[in-house]
Parts: sequence; structure tokens; C-alpha cells
Amino acid sequence: MRLDKFLADAGVGTRSEVKKQIQKGMVQVNEAVIKDPGYKVMVPQDQVSVRGQCVGAAEEFEYYLLHKPAGCVSATSDNIHKTVLDYLPKSRKELFPVGRLDKDTEGLLLITNDGELAHQLLSPRKHVEKTYFARVAGKVTENDVQAMKQGVDIGEKNLTLPAKLVILKTEETADGWVSEVELTICEGKFHQVKRMMEAVGKKVTYLKRISMGSLVLPENLERGQYRKLTQEEVEKLTR
Ligand code: URA
Repeated sequence: MRLDKFLADAGVGTRSEVKKQIQKGMVQVNEAVIKDPGYKVMVPQDQVSVRGQCVGAAEEFEYYLLHKPAGCVSATSDNIHKTVLDYLPKSRKELFPVGRLDKDTEGLLLITNDGELAHQLLSPRKHVEKTYFARVAGKVTENDVQAMKQGVDIGEKNLTLPAKLVILKTEETADGWVSEVELTICEGKFHQVKRMMEAVGKKVTYLKRISMGSLVLPENLERGQYRKLTQEEVEKLTR
């Protein structure tokens, strides 16, 4: 790779800024000053430094776990609403969200430029589990748990695949019954959780995704905050 591209990709500066740095003799490759911006760097063998500071090769792929807040859309651009990308640092990479959460849904969203990984996680054949916390209007019962296990009719050709419903709380309030549940599904149909709860006569009033495959929303990650995935987390996801 050209030396100026290597440095620009690594975030040292724009292509023209790094060119100037190279021509001024500020850049070394394997401890030799290189003044030619077109010098071919061997990645990852060559040691590149700017003013003595080692510069690592840019990562090809970036992986972010965002705690999506309500009110933004799971898209890369939108004329009206904030998008999930607005919560991440500016990147040269073509980042996109892996799957969608509704505008009013919060929680774990993976954002990357790794199309292969996204494909793996979203493929209907892979049955990647996603767990949601939901607050619903109505009293969720054991019958609902069984119905979710069997699969429910949400107006698609087939019933939904077996899903695990855990009742966390049911409470009678002045406005009627309210329940809190966790629902684990291994599909990703449009508004799936809301439609599944509707199929058993309950309306979702709050929805948050708490896990996807091996990734779990960290408790200390506030809404709107993100963190990079560790190498280990990426490897676990792709296993
Ligand atoms: N199911 C829904 O209904 N909405 C989401 O955002 C995600 C899953």
C-alpha cells in the first residue's frame, strides 16, 4: 500500500497533510526516513512511525456496540430523524447497523462495516437468538408462554418459530394490568416482538433489546453510548 494512503487510513491526517509530513522527512519506515509518498509499505510487516511515534495499520473492519436510544432510526442517513450513526465517531468506513430496531426501541445494536459478519448474523438459517425486555399492557400468563413456545400467527405464511417467553412481573395498576417480560426470538421479522405480543392480545409499551447472539448489552453503557467490540467478542460472534 502507498505510504500516504497507509497514514491517511490510519487517521494521521488527510492525504495531502500526510504527503507534506512525508516530504518534510517526518516519516520513517523501519527506521529509515522515507520522503516518497508513493513508497510501498508492506502491511503488516513494515514498522511505520511519524515523528518517532509508531503508527499501526488501520483496521479493515470496525465493530461498535451501541446502546440505541429511542427516537433515532436504524439507518445510515435520514432527512428528518437522527440516525444510529450520529452516535458514533466519524469514520471513513462505510458503517451500517446490523439489522434494525424500531425508532421507539432501545438497546443493543451492532454497527460495523463487516458485511460478511452482518450476513451471518441476519441470515434466517442461522437462527441467531435475540432477547428483548418488554413492558406490555395486559396480564401475561402461562398460556402466553406456551403459545410463544408453539409459535404464534403474526399474519405471515408460517407461525413464528418457537420463542422463549419469561414473565418477570405482572402488576395490577390503576390503568389495568401491566407485565414485564423477556422474549427470546431467533428470527428478525418486521416489528416481530410487538406483533408476537399483539398475537396474544398484549400491547408493547416499551421495548429494549438486551442481547444478540453472544453479545449482551453492558449494564454500564448508557443510552446513546457505544463501545468498540473486543477482538475476543468479534471472534465469538463469528464462531
Ligand atoms: N421487534 C420489534 O417489534 N421491534 C424492534 O425494534 C425489534 C424487534
